[in-house]
Amino acid sequence: MADKEKLIIFDTTLRDGEQSPGASMTQDEKLRIAKSLERMHVDVIEAGFPIASPGDFEAVRTIANTLTQSTVCGLARALDKDIDRAGEALKSAASPRIHTFIATSPIHMRSKLRMSPEQVLDQAVAAVRRARRYTDDVEFSPEDAGRSEIDFLCRIIEAAIAAGARTINIPDTVGYNIPQQFGELVRQLIEKVPNSDKAVFSVHCHNDLGLAVANSLAAVLNGARQVECTINGLGERAGNASLEEVVMTVRTRQDIFPCETDLDTTQIVPTSRLVSSTTGFAVQPNKAIVGANAFAHESGIHQDGVLKSRETYEIMRAEDVGWSANRIVLGKHSGRNAFRSRLEEIGIEMGSEQELNEAFSRFKDLADKKHEIYDEDLQALATEASLSSVNEYCKLVSLKVCSETGETPHALVTLSVEDEERVGAADGGGPVDASFKAIESIIDSETHLQLYSVNAITCGTDAQGEVTVRLEKAGRIVNGQGADTDIVIASAKAYINAVNKLTQPVVRAHPQKLN
Ligand code: KIV
Ligand code: ZN
Repeated sequence: MADKEKLIIFDTTLRDGEQSPGASMTQDEKLRIAKSLERMHVDVIEAGFPIASPGDFEAVRTIANTLTQSTVCGLARALDKDIDRAGEALKSAASPRIHTFIATSPIHMRSKLRMSPEQVLDQAVAAVRRARRYTDDVEFSPEDAGRSEIDFLCRIIEAAIAAGARTINIPDTVGYNIPQQFGELVRQLIEKVPNSDKAVFSVHCHNDLGLAVANSLAAVLNGARQVECTINGLGERAGNASLEEVVMTVRTRQDIFPCETDLDTTQIVPTSRLVSSTTGFAVQPNKAIVGANAFAHESGIHQDGVLKSRETYEIMRAEDVGWSANRIVLGKHSGRNAFRSRLEEIGIEMGSEQELNEAFSRFKDLADKKHEIYDEDLQALATEASLSSVNEYCKLVSLKVCSETGETPHALVTLSVEDEERVGAADGGGPVDASFKAIESIIDSETHLQLYSVNAITCGTDAQGEVTVRLEKAGRIVNGQGADTDIVIASAKAYINAVNKLTQPVVRAHPQKLN
């Protein structure tokens, strides 16, 4: 494989992924995901959009100050104030990149920017030059390139490279392109732009027509050497190209692709789990690579074939992407050191001693209810411990639910609201409904429930249920998570977690909806 070119993997879970409604993450959550991506050897991590809010700035700065291997990238519109803020956030990064963009399609230039093509070109050049004051590693994106005129694209790309851009990213911002056409666009750009050999060509595809991965791979076959993608395909609207699908296709079809990635693919499933439990975006069971059924062989014929020779029906090995059969790792008698070292082995670092203590005491409670503790349980415990270390407006003290055939379910809840214990009670259509109503009878949050989902973390009827609750208030959407062997308690925890997130004021700008 020595003559293979390198395909750069640029992960934007923390930036474009976070633009999914409700997927907003705290600084600690982002840092934990960034470390997991670095452990996977992701080349470039887009950590956020520093001008969006002080919280986004801090998150990018902390990630930039912590990571040592991956390049850390900050997004900036082609505006001085954005670029300066990104430069400031990335100041101490071992390997900083500024990614600046401006829209180039006729509809975006006319209706969103209200600028002429010449003005857009001048602004792009000025932005790239300004970004070069902070770092040599500057990426330029002509937003909505997939609907832009090729002659204008060639001109602006040539100018951006001449101004110092080292990566040119071609976004299919609205997911409109199809593989053959998108591959051809990338091929023509590389061929026509006179200085194209001075930059790496990259692609960033959205999944509105379900073609993000196919379009990205078509571009790779036509010369792109960086793919922008997200874990689990998270992202704005229908999401971005999924990292795991891009990486595993390139790896599995080395007979077709002239390039390879440096990723440690065994980190894919743990990272996917971390992203899903952090954001509350569950992974569908039949999702390629990371779905629960991706390597399950249901039909008798398939099982028979796999037992005789696994290649009959398996094109990849489950262990190569990090699926380990549910492994019992700890039990009731495991001590604090065993707990800490297993967390470290699976890449979970507790931020502080307080978080570790919190997680360990939850572990002991769980081990009393459930004798076999799996890695997946530890992941959920760590997520819960870090959730509860954020400032909490209210906490669950106790919950009692009566549910009986023929009777109306009733819930009695005690919450600690700003350190004062308060009790509420309510009837409901079911025990979960009654619990949520009892909580609301205390806090009256004025929120609307948009989504409620439960997943079993491991198998068996004593498994922990992981609940996601999505709440909306005045246009702001958040996801709350909770895990417990009792799914009504898990539901109440998730509801309270979402309410707590809503009490933390966040004013953030959306990179593509401003200008
Ligand atoms: O989809 C898009 O065009 C983007 C740009 C900021 C690259 O996310
Ligand atoms: Zn995007």
